[in-house]
Amino acid sequence: MKSADRIYFGGDYNPDQWDEQTLEEDMRLFRKAGVSLLTLPVFSWARLEPDEGVYDFAWLDRILERISANGIRFCLATPTSAQPAWLSTRYPEVLPVDIQGRKRTHGMRVFFCVNSLKYRERAGAMAHEFARRYARHPALAMWHVANEYGTSCYCPTCQARFRLFLKKRYGSLEELNRRWHTAFWGRILTSFEEICLPTELNDDYRFNPAVQLDYMRFLTDSTLECFRNEYDILKSYNPDIPVMTNMSGFIRKLDQFRFTQAMDIVGWDNYPSPGDKPHFVAMKHDIMRGLRHGQSFILTEQSPNQQNWQPYNRLKRPGEVRRLSYQALAHGADTCLFFQMRQSIAGQEKFHGAIISHAGREDTRVFREAAGLGHELEKLGSRFLEGRVEARVAVLMDWNSWWALELSSGPSRDLNYLRALSFCYRPLHDRNIPVDFLLPQAGMDLSPYALVLAPMLYMVRPGVAECVDAYVREGGHFLATVMTGLADENDRCVFGAYPGPFRDTLGIWVEETDALRPEEKNGLRMGDSLYTCGFLCDLIHVTHAKVLATYTEDFYRGMPAITRNIRGRGEAWYIGTRPEEACMDALMDRLLRHAGVHPPFRAAPGVEITRRVREEGTLFVINHNDHEAWADLGEETRTSLLDGRTVSGIIRLPAGDVGVFTDDRKDKPC
Ligand code: GLA
Ligand code: ZN
Repeated sequence: MKSADRIYFGGDYNPDQWDEQTLEEDMRLFRKAGVSLLTLPVFSWARLEPDEGVYDFAWLDRILERISANGIRFCLATPTSAQPAWLSTRYPEVLPVDIQGRKRTHGMRVFFCVNSLKYRERAGAMAHEFARRYARHPALAMWHVANEYGTSCYCPTCQARFRLFLKKRYGSLEELNRRWHTAFWGRILTSFEEICLPTELNDDYRFNPAVQLDYMRFLTDSTLECFRNEYDILKSYNPDIPVMTNMSGFIRKLDQFRFTQAMDIVGWDNYPSPGDKPHFVAMKHDIMRGLRHGQSFILTEQSPNQQNWQPYNRLKRPGEVRRLSYQALAHGADTCLFFQMRQSIAGQEKFHGAIISHAGREDTRVFREAAGLGHELEKLGSRFLEGRVEARVAVLMDWNSWWALELSSGPSRDLNYLRALSFCYRPLHDRNIPVDFLLPQAGMDLSPYALVLAPMLYMVRPGVAECVDAYVREGGHFLATVMTGLADENDRCVFGAYPGPFRDTLGIWVEETDALRPEEKNGLRMGDSLYTCGFLCDLIHVTHAKVLATYTEDFYRGMPAITRNIRGRGEAWYIGTRPEEACMDALMDRLLRHAGVHPPFRAAPGVEITRRVREEGTLFVINHNDHEAWADLGEETRTSLLDGRTVSGIIRLPAGDVGVFTDDRKDKPC
């Protein structure tokens, strides 16, 4: 795979909507904004194959020539997420059936049955046409397969394929009955033909979560087959061009650790909701970087202004797009791409922001800001591309645990995995401590980390707890929280008390878990300090651990809430509730001290500092505040890569501003 020589700047361009004059004007504006990459033609299947096997690529050829003549490269997208009407009409099996059993009509996009062989055949044929024509085009930078996969389907084909999937997974019906624990409620199956897709909504607890879990796995694998179908074809024409797909915002449906192993590079669309805190966005980038073991990723989309699909589509404030873009780069993105380049004149997304708005002018705030950013990124060249973020703290994260936790009926309706992750991530982000996200699996290498966290790691795969225990004994630091270690891969709870396989490591056992209403609180006594806690309260017994905090209220007053166990040369901490933030901060400071992890920089609250390292280091400093704020960059003399100034020690950043600096420290992660 060739490395890029610049931070690609540009995004989704849908030129089949525009006339000659508009296209020419687009090129002028793109040059003006420093655009270096366009993604197209994401949804143009119907234009490219007006009838089965009849192709019309002439218009696309002309557009691609125009783009490359303007010095812009392209990310070519197979248009296979929006099948043409003739395909849905001629082969209705292509259309999905929804969870309520309704056959859906044509008209949406990303709206096909992922198990339809006809869909795969026609999508494959399209991928061949694409690759045959463009795989050696000098301006082709990367391939983009389809768009934001993630359609569920409950059609007869999916039903049949689900049964096959289960046969392969479990071998025999006895094993399936055992693993699904069908003895409960007398749901025993006597033939694979009796297996039904879980066509009840998640909030209806009458469907066995074990079946739903396997459906999610099945959906991931079926979708992956669609991706692979095209991937293999594209690769066969030119193995050097990277192939990816853009993953939707933050999609729970598809196991992205599994999905992305089939890509050359991760691509994801970042659409923060108004009000999302900077640490929440940063965490999502870090997760994306974790999917392929720290490899940098493609930021495939973000909006240059407001969206159209939020309940209230807030304008992005001046400077916000720049800040979000640098935040993505700081956490591992190698590109800065937008949806979309020109705002469509009609259709579902006519009010979605674009670099060129309906006004069609260059003297707009959004265009000016985009162009400013485009030229600024040009100056940065390629120095940090493919650069890594060096972290000594890891968070264990598993899509399977996410599914199982949120499919669970009880103990609380407020179980939310991303919130649980961000609850532990926030104090680390506040201290500018880099974090890696890892898939917990047997044989994982935890040795690079001084601290490993397992927030609500509800479902534990075989071999994971053993790995964690060995890591702790050898001197590692481990933190688990309430709702960790409850179930196996089939959502069968452990006997012998929670946190199941982590019991010995943590030196505790949990007898019961109380669920509090949102307005209810308990208290925590930690040393001389008092805090509040809520949400869930584990009633803990210590076997070997020391008690760090106890509850102050209710019948379990005085029982342990937070514990610390010394095991071998390491320590294992447990938080059996959701403490208030101040308590989390105090705990994290202490835990980090014990683990020997020190915040690498001091800075005012709301200032984010991140480092990426390739041959040289690059330091990103982002002021998320609406006021000036300081950061202490240490003794090193650094050059600002944005304006050439030399700085050291304390710098002041204006409200909402960004700094990018050289960083010489090569082998000194925090
Ligand atoms: C997604 C899609 C785009 C567009 C944007 C709008 O990310 O991939 O085609 O619909 O959302 O926000
Ligand atoms: Zn189907």
